[in-house]
Amino acid sequence: IPLPSAATDNCIDDENTIPSRFVLPPGRRPLSLPNTADVLRVSPEEVPVIDLAAASSYGSTRSIFLRQLYCACANWGIFHVYNHGVPEDLLSDLGLHVQKFLALPVALRGAQKLGNHAQGYGSGFVRLSTGTTEWRDFLRVYTYPLHRRHYEAWPPSPELRKVIERYSDEVRKLQINVLRLMSESLGLSAHRLEEMMGEMQQTILVNHYPPCPRPDLAIGIDTHTDVGAVSCLWQPDDVVGLQVLREGEWHPVSSARGALTIIVADQVQIASNGIFKSPLHRGVLNKDKNRVSILSFYQLNPEQLVSPLEDLISDSSPPMYQPTRFKDHEQAAKGPLSANAS
Ligand code: SIN
Ligand code: FE2
Repeated sequence: IPLPSAATDNCIDDENTIPSRFVLPPGRRPLSLPNTADVLRVSPEEVPVIDLAAASSYGSTRSIFLRQLYCACANWGIFHVYNHGVPEDLLSDLGLHVQKFLALPVALRGAQKLGNHAQGYGSGFVRLSTGTTEWRDFLRVYTYPLHRRHYEAWPPSPELRKVIERYSDEVRKLQINVLRLMSESLGLSAHRLEEMMGEMQQTILVNHYPPCPRPDLAIGIDTHTDVGAVSCLWQPDDVVGLQVLREGEWHPVSSARGALTIIVADQVQIASNGIFKSPLHRGVLNKDKNRVSILSFYQLNPEQLVSPLEDLISDSSPPMYQPTRFKDHEQAAKGPLSANAS
């Protein structure tokens, strides 16, 4: 049963067509296959899985763990984590209250036209450079620093608010932990990457992708890299849709039970001088299933300047990127992050 959606309600009158505003130009479509299950079987190769319990081991076990993490960040830029520290009952509470929110009639969710930096629930109004509208609605709230929480834009449900706050605290700890481990895996002190990133900003985004009669023509979220430092994704149910581009091939990112998924974002790619990859990814649609994804973005203060870490620069590894202010990067971000130091 499709959940109500401000993006797509009242726009499906024929189960074989969708309104033209959602139709991507031919070259941008997610493969012309009749149903998404086939699209998702693009490649059998799976994204890496990392057990974070090994981070608290010693000696060679820990070295092997750091090496695994390094390879996952360098080869894929996306990986699942187990033993991530976010309590299971918190995840199920979050899933439950998000589901309740998405079952509300759109009018009760405070739907609005959300610009790039607005908080609240909105949808269907994200226009891509192709002029196409994404097939999704979303709830976006800022959680850190605290003064960015504009509660008037948050959903009215006190339970949902509380669970978002609790989740943001726990997932933020995980994101900081991962950033420290990434730093160590690069042979740097644990805090080196964080020092480069400065004061963090956290945004929580709940994406809802309604079923789409033509998943071959439309897109839930178009191909992009994440602009911040590190993102964390939770897929509350086993409806797949996320794909990541690696070596010219799209790979499905399954929702592994109990796992969270870490995505390396642009600022870590820049700080690591291109050693770690911020991967291109996109969300494709399902013909008859709702899909929900919950993201925590670890981002930067708009004024923060990020450049390749000196420790990683040498004659044989010259800097691949110019120092860039986060707000300028965010504004310019389109497509893959390209080296621009020349
Ligand atoms: C995103 O990249 O922001 C969305 C990912 C997803 O829906 O799985
Ligand atoms: Fe993303």
